[in-house]
Amino acid sequence: METNGKNTTLRSTHPPETRRRIILFPLPFQGHINPMFQLANILHTQGFKITIIHTQYNSPNHSTYPHFHFRPINDRFSEVEHLLPTNRDPSFYIKYLNRSCVDPFRDCVIGLLDEGPVACLIADAMFYFTQAVADELKLPRMVLRTSSLGCAIGYGALPLSSMDGRFNLTKQDAGYDAPVSEYPLLKVKDMLKIAINPKGYGDLVTNMLKQMKTSSGLIWNTFKELEEPELETINQDFQVPSFTLGPFHKYFPASSSSLIKQDRTILSWLDILPPKSVIYISFGSAARITDTEFQEVAHGLASISSPFLWVVRPGMVLGSEWLESLPEKFLERVGDRGRIVKWCPQQEVLAHSATGCFWTHNGWNSTLESIGEGVPMICSPCFADQPIVARYVSDVWKIGVLLEDGFEKMGIGMAIKRILMDKEGEEMRERISCLKEKVNLSLDEGGSSNKSLKTLVDYISSF
Ligand code: UDX
Repeated sequence: METNGKNTTLRSTHPPETRRRIILFPLPFQGHINPMFQLANILHTQGFKITIIHTQYNSPNHSTYPHFHFRPINDRFSEVEHLLPTNRDPSFYIKYLNRSCVDPFRDCVIGLLDEGPVACLIADAMFYFTQAVADELKLPRMVLRTSSLGCAIGYGALPLSSMDGRFNLTKQDAGYDAPVSEYPLLKVKDMLKIAINPKGYGDLVTNMLKQMKTSSGLIWNTFKELEEPELETINQDFQVPSFTLGPFHKYFPASSSSLIKQDRTILSWLDILPPKSVIYISFGSAARITDTEFQEVAHGLASISSPFLWVVRPGMVLGSEWLESLPEKFLERVGDRGRIVKWCPQQEVLAHSATGCFWTHNGWNSTLESIGEGVPMICSPCFADQPIVARYVSDVWKIGVLLEDGFEKMGIGMAIKRILMDKEGEEMRERISCLKEKVNLSLDEGGSSNKSLKTLVDYISSF
């Protein structure tokens, strides 16, 4: 089993016959699959047998995990998959899966219970339907929430389902830049980014939070030192035990659960570049941008002199297969200073000494991976939890610069200068290096994440 260096002491010492079984059920999207498989590996090292129930859509590669058992279920996702290029509302697909998976999931769990005892189910928080199935089968259900504690608080406070007038505001309107009164960390313009269908997303979030509160416990991919006040609030609001044993990628890398092949050739290109000189750009596994936004990014990168590595996922630019919308002569203009790839080994890129800054959409995994390597960020949140995480990065932890006007080439050039050349950037780098240290301490024996993992193991063993 591949480990990630930090916690190589995490090796299973339990003979297989004494292990208890846990069932895990990931939501079938990259940013959710990665932390669920990392958690599965962590729990396996703690002596549990692992069975993964998974949808056929975005099925994991079983051969990568010979130490796990797999049970695919028929999710009927093929009935809506053809809508993906045109319907950009993620809540539509997640709510669909919460209906289409009920019967096959229940049948699958019943089959597993017939085979032998199961300690508990751990489901992605967005698979909220699993609470009713677990209750019916008298199986304890724990939840993995793949985003931050701060995001759960924000989701609880924001008026997403209310359909009030603020959701109709545009850039020209007064109030667009104002703080959201119910959750002033966020501005109205940030809230508008969370969902193209706020009511649909709000309903999804309401169901998720409700079923988190009735679960047997919450597992978070975060660490106490990063979100201490938020952990206190969650403990008060949710009234079920919370376990903060992250960041998971420090135990096991995300690369083994990558759905897209990672281009490793860029690592040798990074090797020849000066320390902290490269801007790494990626907007994650699901965000899609317009061709105008894509061109602004390209113009911004063309206007600076720093080397850059840009991940352009096929299908990321609306209406394009891959790079068709690049401005004319872009590649000739940037020459060997820039590299564009379809997907890369992100953790290794962030850990590389040549990487100086991460221009990110602030998906939670990417944000934690950046913190774990001490790389300051330029924030371009696209949807869902990302606007909340981006505000934490820029306004609370002060380890990045948020592009307030979205993808806009002037702002991009200035943000890069602030991070790579200004004193302000140096201060951000100091703060994020300090957090990186705290990550390492939390994972050490007796550190907060290490203790939380032990408490979680005892808790699951008590079921
Ligand atoms: C979205 C949400 O925004 C996130 O917060 C939520 O918890 C899950 O869904 P996503 O767009 O997938 O996430 O981004 P992120 O959470 O950052 O996860 C992306 C993963 O893909 C990371 O683990 C990253 O290392 C990996 N990745 C990214 C690669 O392996 N290669 C790449 O080129 C880019």
